[in-house]
Amino acid sequence: MIILGIDTSCDDTSVALLEEKNSKFKIISDIVSSQAIHKEYGGVYPFLAKREHQKNLPVVFRKAVGKNLSKVDFLAVTVGPGLEPCLWQGINFAKELAKETKKPLVPVNHIEAHILANFISKPQLTTSKSQIFPAMCLVVSGGHTSLVLMEKIGKYKLIGETQDDAAGECLDKVARILGLGYPGGPAIAANAAEFKTQKTHRLRTAKFKVKLPRPMIHQKNYNFSFSGLKTAVLYNYKSQPLKIRKDKNYIQAVSFEVQQAVIDVLLYKTAKAAKDYQVKTVMLGGGVAANDELRRQFKKKLSNEKLNFFVPSKKFCTDNAVMIAVTAFFNRTKGIKKLKNITAKSNLSI
Ligand code: KG4
Ligand code: ZN
Repeated sequence: MIILGIDTSCDDTSVALLEEKNSKFKIISDIVSSQAIHKEYGGVYPFLAKREHQKNLPVVFRKAVGKNLSKVDFLAVTVGPGLEPCLWQGINFAKELAKETKKPLVPVNHIEAHILANFISKPQLTTSKSQIFPAMCLVVSGGHTSLVLMEKIGKYKLIGETQDDAAGECLDKVARILGLGYPGGPAIAANAAEFKTQKTHRLRTAKFKVKLPRPMIHQKNYNFSFSGLKTAVLYNYKSQPLKIRKDKNYIQAVSFEVQQAVIDVLLYKTAKAAKDYQVKTVMLGGGVAANDELRRQFKKKLSNEKLNFFVPSKKFCTDNAVMIAVTAFFNRTKGIKKLKNITAKSNLSI
């Protein structure tokens, strides 16, 4: 069975072809075109992103599909959550294609897709359900920070989410303050990695008085809040003389501290939720899960607690259309709807 996936929910235009054979997935093509235009602005502007999707989608589609369209069994497109004008670009493109080719179209939830990205390279997970589920899933990206209890594929319960900015959004805003460009997560990670030891970290952060809060870490719920972290960085930055603001030691100290503050809160709350709900597995998904330090610290803590730990390979943490095709594969029977009922749902929850 061959599935064509499309994602235009934010600033990446992605199309992929995925083949499923005996519960194993083979990626035939996987094209992601990231919109460089947002670098200038330090964030994503929906109408600019929409225009870029309009321009890029036919090109990305041709690259990914080539002469293989007739072999495709069904189509899949992200319908939400995401930026509404961007979502519509993918949806309208997919609907036209469905009409032309008379192939079914499966609408996909982007958050579910970030979770199911864990199954792209681990097909064995689908057949060993009893050892895996229930699972606690942390979806952590530029748009979302959500804790989702997963009883099985298709059965989810949202148990907590951010009350303001998403973790990735916080890293993007801090990077903008520090003049590191967009997307901020990878730039913050690269600067944070310049600290070779915990000791140099402690000395530097003390020197610049960069001690950031761990928002909501001890509240008795599974929600998050990251906007205060960005504000704390802004105050610290403004309190520094101009020369220090541009000093690479200062930028590295802030990067290290903000990255660690985000990891501390995410890890503490996820581990607590995993314990409270007595799950067997923790799964990560979303762009921030591509962070090396976050992956390392989660793995260490969760293996100490005898939990399975899964995280997609880095390229399937950030937005991609392979995860959309995989999600459509699991939803293929219940997901197919009349074309006119497929609409963009910018606030779709899981
Ligand atoms: O999943 P994604 O590609 O798009 C959304 O659905 O939002 O996530 C993008 C987010 C951005 O905020 C970006 O800064 C962050 O993921 N990100 C990272 C890393 N790579 C991307 N954050 C921390 N470390 C990284 N290596
Ligand atoms: Zn995403």
